[in-house]
Amino acid sequence: MQFNIKELLAGAQGTNFELHDKHINPQFSKVLRTIGFDHCYTRGVGPYLWDDKGNKYLDMIAGYGVFNLGRNHPSVKQALIDFMDVDYASLVQMEAPLLSGLLAEELKTRIPNELDIVYFTNSGTEGVETAIKFARCSTRRSTIIYCKKAFHGLSNGSLALNGDESFRKGFEPFLPDCRMIAFNDLNALEDELMKGDVAGFIVEPVQGKGVNLPAPGYLRDAAALCRRHGALFIADEIQSGMGRTGRFLALEHDGDVDPDIVILSKSLSGGYVPVGAVLTRRWIYDHVFSSLDRAVVHSSTFGQGGMAMAAGLATLSTMDEFDLIARAERIGRQLGEGLQAMQSRFELIKDVRWRGCMVGIEFGPPRSLGLRTGWEMVHAMDSNLFPQAITMPLMQEHRVLTQVAGHHIDVIKLLPTLVMNDDDIRWFLNAFEDVMQKMEKFPGPAWDVLSRLGKIAVTNRGRKHSPQTQSASIMQTQPDFETAAPEQKVNSKAGGTWAHRIARWAIRPLVNTSVTPNHLTTLRLLTGVAAAGAFAVGDYFWTAWGGLLFVVSAFLDRADGELARLTGQMSTTGHRYDLVSDVVVTVLLFIGIGIGLSNGALGWWAPLMGIISGLSVAAIFWVVTRMEQKSAKGEPAFGSVKGFDADDVLFIVGPMAWLDDLIALLLASSFGAPLFLIFALYQLKHKKAV
Ligand SMILES: Cc1ncc(COP(=O)(O)O)c(C=O)c1O
Repeated sequence: MQFNIKELLAGAQGTNFELHDKHINPQFSKVLRTIGFDHCYTRGVGPYLWDDKGNKYLDMIAGYGVFNLGRNHPSVKQALIDFMDVDYASLVQMEAPLLSGLLAEELKTRIPNELDIVYFTNSGTEGVETAIKFARCSTRRSTIIYCKKAFHGLSNGSLALNGDESFRKGFEPFLPDCRMIAFNDLNALEDELMKGDVAGFIVEPVQGKGVNLPAPGYLRDAAALCRRHGALFIADEIQSGMGRTGRFLALEHDGDVDPDIVILSKSLSGGYVPVGAVLTRRWIYDHVFSSLDRAVVHSSTFGQGGMAMAAGLATLSTMDEFDLIARAERIGRQLGEGLQAMQSRFELIKDVRWRGCMVGIEFGPPRSLGLRTGWEMVHAMDSNLFPQAITMPLMQEHRVLTQVAGHHIDVIKLLPTLVMNDDDIRWFLNAFEDVMQKMEKFPGPAWDVLSRLGKIAVTNRGRKHSPQTQSASIMQTQPDFETAAPEQKVNSKAGGTWAHRIARWAIRPLVNTSVTPNHLTTLRLLTGVAAAGAFAVGDYFWTAWGGLLFVVSAFLDRADGELARLTGQMSTTGHRYDLVSDVVVTVLLFIGIGIGLSNGALGWWAPLMGIISGLSVAAIFWVVTRMEQKSAKGEPAFGSVKGFDADDVLFIVGPMAWLDDLIALLLASSFGAPLFLIFALYQLKHKKAV
C-alpha cells in the first residue's frame, strides 16, 4: 500500500506525548505536562496554531523566530510545490547549483556593507561553527571573544561561546581559547583585543537570552575596534536578522556598522526547510579555500539543498512583497507601547524593551508588602520560577504561546510572527493585562500555581545523585530550553559548593581508571563503620584513624556523584547502593556514638536514642526513595487519600529529603566527622585509650 501521510497523521492523532515519552525526550514531555503546554497541534497558519480539539492559539514564539512570515505562508508553499513538481536536480554535489547562486546574489543585495561570499548551512549553530573556523584560519589567531549571556547554539564550538553556565554544565572541556566579556563593555573588548591573539569577536546585535539591547554606538565601535586590532567582527543575526527587528539586520539600528561575517538562519526558509547562510569577505574566503586542493575544505552534504534554496528565494521575495520589515517595526512598537502603558499600573513589571519584534518584559521585586512576600517566597523556592506565572496562564486561560527568556532572569520574551494584525495584538495585550491583574493579588490563585510548581522543584532537588537532581529543576528545560536551571546551588546542602569543587578537582585523576562511584561509596561506608565501631568499644586510637579517613568522606560524598557525572557511570543500582550506604553509615554512627557515650556516664538511653534516630533517618530515606520511584513512573504518590494528593506528599517529602541529607551529612561527614575526630583525639590526649 502506498504511503499516505494524511492518513498517518489522522490515525495517530493525539499520541504525540505517548511517543515522545517512549522514544524522544521524556523529560521534556514531563516539563510540558507540568506547565500545561501539553497540547497536540495539528494546524498552523500565519500567527495561529490549532490543536487536535480545534482550539485556536496565538503563537508569540514563532518556532523560536523561524516563522517571520507566519506559518505555512502560501507564497513559499506554492514555490515549494512548484519546485517539487519539476523534479529538479538537487544535491548533485559535483556541480554549481543554480538556486544557491541566485539566493547568494539576493542575500548580498540586502546586507548593508559589502560582503562578497556566501556559505550555506543547515542550521544556526553550523553557521557559528563556520565563523569560528573562518576567523581562525584567516587571521592565524586562535582566540574567539564572546559575551556574557550570549547564545550561539549548542554544538561543541558554539557551546564554547555560550555565556550561560546552565547550558555548559556537564559538557566540559570546551574548545580552547574562548574568552568571555560583558555585553556592552567596549573597554573589556579592547583589553582582550590588545592581547593580540584574538581571531574574532562574536556578538548578537540583540541578545536573545533576556532580550538585551546594545547601548547606542556599541556595535559600531566594537566593529571598528576589531578592525584596528586585526580581529574579525562576527554578527550573529540568526535570531535578530531577516527583518525581525525592523531592519534586515539588527545591527543596522546602530548606524554604520561594518561586520566581517554575518550569520543568518532561522526564518531564511520561511520555516519550511532547515537553512542558514554565512556572509563573509573575499579575503577571508581566500584564506580558507586557498587552493584547488582546499576547494571543499569546509562543506556539508545538505548545504545547498534545492528545497532550502527555493524556500529562501521565495521568503525574500515574500518579505519584499508584503513589506514585512516595516511591519516588524510597527508590530513591535504597538506591542512595546501597549506593554509600557501597563508598567505604571502593575508594580511587578520592571522594564519593557524591544527592537522591532524582539520584545522583552522584565519583572522585578514589587513595593507592596504582600506582593513582595509572594515574590520572595517564589524566588526562594526556585530562581527560575516566577516567569512561569505569566506564561502558564497566558497559555491556559488565553491560548497565547509565550516563552521565558533565559535562566535565572525574570524576563519573558515575545518573538511573534511579522504578520500579526491589530486584533492579534489586542488579543495578546488583553490577555497579558488579565494575567497581570490576577498576579497583583497576593495571596491568590495565580500564586497558588507557582507554589505548586515550587513544591515540585523542591522535591526534585531533594535527593543527591538522583536523575532529577542532575537536571535540578522541573523548570530547567523550558520550551526554549531557555528557563530555569537553578544552578547546582540546589545541590549545595551541607558540604557546600567548596566541597563540591574540591571533590571535582580531586576526582579528575580517577576518571580514566577503573574506579567507579561505588568504590568510593564503599570506602565511605567502611571508614564510617570502622570509626563508629572503634568509638563504640572505646578504642580512641582507631577511632581517630577511622575519623580521619572519614573526614575525607565529606568529599567522597561529593566525589562519588562527581565521578558518576564525569564518567557517565550513573545507574539505578549505584543510586540505590548510595542510598543504602547512607542509611547504614548514619544508623551505625548513631549507634556507635550512642554506645560510646554511654560508656561514659550517659546510661542506657544513649544507644537507644541512637537506634531510634538512626531508624528515623532510614525511614525518611525509604519514603523518599519510594516517592522517587513512583514519580519516575509518573504514578501518583500515595493513592487517593481524600484531600491529600501527590502534591502535598511532594511538598512534605521534598524538604524532608533535603533534611535527611542534611542530617546524614552533618553526622556522617562534613561536620560530624571532624567532631568525631576531635573528640577521639581529646580522649587520646587524656590517656583514655585502651
Ligand atoms: C542568536 C542565535 N545564534 C545561534 C542559534 C542556534 O541556532 P540553531 O538552533 O539553528 O542551531 C540561535 C538559536 O536560537 C540563536 O538564537
